[in-house]
Amino acid sequence: MRLDRFLSETTDLTRSFAKKALHKGQVEVDGVIVKKGDMQIDKQAVRYQGKLLTLSSPRYIMLHKPASYISATQDEDYPCVLRLLPEELQRELQCVGRLDVDTTGLLLLTDDGQWSHRIRSPKKACSKVYRVDLDEPLAENVAERFTAGLMLHGEEKATLPATLEVITPTRVLLTIQEGKYHQVKRMFAAVGNKVVSLHRLQIGHITLDDTLAPGQWRHLTEEEIASV
Ligand code: URA
Repeated sequence: MRLDRFLSETTDLTRSFAKKALHKGQVEVDGVIVKKGDMQIDKQAVRYQGKLLTLSSPRYIMLHKPASYISATQDEDYPCVLRLLPEELQRELQCVGRLDVDTTGLLLLTDDGQWSHRIRSPKKACSKVYRVDLDEPLAENVAERFTAGLMLHGEEKATLPATLEVITPTRVLLTIQEGKYHQVKRMFAAVGNKVVSLHRLQIGHITLDDTLAPGQWRHLTEEEIASV
C-alpha cells in the first residue's frame, strides 16, 4: 500500500494532512525521513512523529440488531447500525448481508471482504436460521413446499431447499441457505401467510450470543471467525 494511504489508515490523519506531515519531515520509513506519499509500504517500520505505526488487524463483530436500524451505511429515515459501535471501530466496517429495518437479531460486521464474501456467496450456501412469527397458523404442506423449493415472484430460479421447525402454529424456525431480497417474507407470502416478526438467530456456525441485549455487540472469537 502507498505510504500516504498507510498513514491515513493507521492514524487520525486524512490523506491531505498525511501529505502535509510528509512534507514537514514527520514521517520515517526504516529510520529514513520520507517526504513523498507514493512509496510502497510492505514490511518496513513506519514512524510518525517518532511513533511506530501498525495496521490494525481485521475486525469481526457480532451485533444484536435492534428494530428501526438499517444495515446499509446510509439512509435518510433510519439510523445506521454502525452508530451502535464505538467510533474508532466503525472505519471500513461493512455489514455481512442485510437485514430489513424491522428485522432483529444476528448481524455480522467486518472489514475483511473475503471473509464476508464466503458467507454471502450463493455458491457456499451458508445457512441462516430465523425465528419467524406468523399472522396465520402454518398451513399443512408448507414444510414440504419449502423443502422442494419455491418460485418467488421476479426470480428465475426456485429457492434452495429450506427447513422448517414448528414451535407453535404461529412461530417457526426457518433455515435457509441463501439471502435473496426479503427472502423469508416473500417465502411466507408465496404460501399465503404473512411474517409479523423476524429475528435472525444464526449464520453458519455463529449463533447470536444470548447475553447481548438489542443494540449490544462483541468481537467474534477465534473459533467463530475460523468457522466460516
Ligand atoms: N428475509 C427477509 O425477508 N428479511 C430479512 O431481514 C432477512 C431475511
